[in-house]
Amino acid sequence: MIAGNWKMNGLRSDALALARAVADGVKQAAWTDRQVLICPPATLVMAVADAVRGSALLVGGQDCHAKPSGAHTGDIAAEMLRDCGASHVIVGHSERRADHGESDALVRAKAEAAWRASLVPVICIGETLDEREAGDTLEVLATQLKGSIPPGATAWNTVVAYEPVWAIGTGKTPTTAEVAAAHGHIRKVLATLTSEAAGIRLLYGGSVKESNAAELLAAGDVDGALVGGASLKAPEFLAIAKAA
Ligand code: 13P
Repeated sequence: MIAGNWKMNGLRSDALALARAVADGVKQAAWTDRQVLICPPATLVMAVADAVRGSALLVGGQDCHAKPSGAHTGDIAAEMLRDCGASHVIVGHSERRADHGESDALVRAKAEAAWRASLVPVICIGETLDEREAGDTLEVLATQLKGSIPPGATAWNTVVAYEPVWAIGTGKTPTTAEVAAAHGHIRKVLATLTSEAAGIRLLYGGSVKESNAAELLAAGDVDGALVGGASLKAPEFLAIAKAA
């Protein structure tokens, strides 16, 4: 799976052109061995889903509330994303964990909300630079996984994304050996949580671009990428999907 996280970027005209260009590329490539997903801001999910309908391009949200409805001003339920044409939703992105104080328990509740609404959550975890420098990376990842993945995760209903916080938007990436070590560890911890660990897709995210995609995607236990900045340009994002 190659997933694009547009973050807080995109107004209607540019966003629809971008989505259509990605959908055209996906249509032309006619891949049968990979999924391509774009996650526009909530304001654009419906328009983007309408614009790409008929292509194999998938559309997702970037966050959802744990509850299906109610007095939660400004929040969006997983059911609402589904209603707009989304099939996936990112939960627990480090920017939400940092900007909105989201805990593992809340991320887990959001993942369960996604299942309730028949969405596939892309559950994000990742260590900060301080944690890596202290040698705590694997422990942090295990703690986040155990806290954020609800019981019942399967290869079909869950995607996990490893995004080292220090690699996001910085142009820095771990070495392929470091990525493989983290992903191998994640797979091992997942195996303590579900019998389907082998089939759950593990995406790497953090400064993935056309020039490093093939190398990062070839690292052990990497089943795809979660792309930020480079997903805002159709040719570059499609080149990353091709590299997979
Ligand atoms: P960048 O690709 O811009 O580093 O962002 C990664 C990310 O946070 C995707 O969710």
